[in-house]
Amino acid sequence: MRLRREPAIEIKTPAQIARMYAAGQVVARTLAALADAVRPGVATAELDSIAEREIRSAGAVPSFLGYFDYPASICASVNQQVVHGIPSHGQRLRAGDIISIDCGAILDGWHGDAAISVGVGEIDPADQALLDACEASMWAGIAQAVAGRRLGDISNAVERSVRGSGDYGLIREYTGHGIGTEMHMEPAVRNYGPPGQGPRLLTGMALAIEPMITRGGREVAELEDGWTVVSVDGSRAAHFEHTVAVTADGPWVLTALEGATSAAAERAGVRLSGRDPRTSATVGTRAEDRLATRAAPGGDGDVG
Ligand code: MF3
Ligand code: CO
Repeated sequence: MRLRREPAIEIKTPAQIARMYAAGQVVARTLAALADAVRPGVATAELDSIAEREIRSAGAVPSFLGYFDYPASICASVNQQVVHGIPSHGQRLRAGDIISIDCGAILDGWHGDAAISVGVGEIDPADQALLDACEASMWAGIAQAVAGRRLGDISNAVERSVRGSGDYGLIREYTGHGIGTEMHMEPAVRNYGPPGQGPRLLTGMALAIEPMITRGGREVAELEDGWTVVSVDGSRAAHFEHTVAVTADGPWVLTALEGATSAAAERAGVRLSGRDPRTSATVGTRAEDRLATRAAPGGDGDVG
C-alpha cells in the first residue's frame, strides 16, 4: 500500500530523450536566430515572425501558438515585463532595453522549451548583473538535475544562487515544469525551497528549469491582456530557461545549442559538450531508476 501518492512524472526511454533533444535543438536554433535579430528598432512582432519561420522550416510546430489561445509563437517580455509578454508591432526595442524571449516547439510529438534574456545595444551594468544572476541560478539548478537527488535540490540551488548574487526579487508565482509529450507536465519545479524534499529524480525524467528574478521586489501582476506578467514595483526582470533530461551521464541540456559553450554553465559544473545524442541518454540500472512512476505512452512516443 502506498501511503503517499506522488503525482506521476513521465519517464522517457533513451530513444525518446534523443527525440526530445531534436525538438530542443529546434528551440535552440530559433533562440540563436532571435538573439541575433535583437537590436534597436526591431518590433517584438518581427521576432515572433522569425521564430515561427525557423520552427516551421525545421518541420516542427510552435507549441505556444494557440496554447490556451495564446496568440504567438514566442513570449517577448521587455524590461519590467517578467514573462508571457505578447509580441506586438507597436513594441519596438530601444537601446538599453532588456528582453526575455521564451520559445517552445514540438517535433514528432516531443517538446522543447527554453528562454533567454538579452540586452538591446548597450545596457546598464546593473541590468547586465541581473541577467547574469538569473542565468547563473538556472545553471545552478541544472547542475542538480542528477538521478538520486530530489526535486527540492534543484529548487534550493536556484534560490541559493540568486541570494548569493545580490538583492534580487525571486518570483514564486511561476515555476518550471516537467516536459515531454506535453509542454507543461508534473512536477512543478519551484525556484525556491528547502533541499532534500520532493520526488526523487530518476533517469528518463525531463524538466524545464526557469528562474525569474527582478531588480526589486518579488511581487508580480498580470495585465488586462490576460497574459503579460509585470513586476508590481516596475523593476526590470530577467528569465532564463532550459529543458534538461536526467540521464545516467548527468544532466543533459536538450535546448543548449549543439557545439555552443557557456562560461556560466562551466562555472556551475554543467558539461555541455561531448554528448552523442544516439548513446547519451542511457537509462540507469539502479533499483530506484526501475521504479519509474509512469512510462511515456506509445512505445517510441507518437503523441501529436
Ligand atoms: N514557455 C512558457 C513556460 O516556460 C510558457 C509559455 S505560455 C504560452 O512555461 F502560452 F505562451 F505558451
Ligand atoms: Co517553460
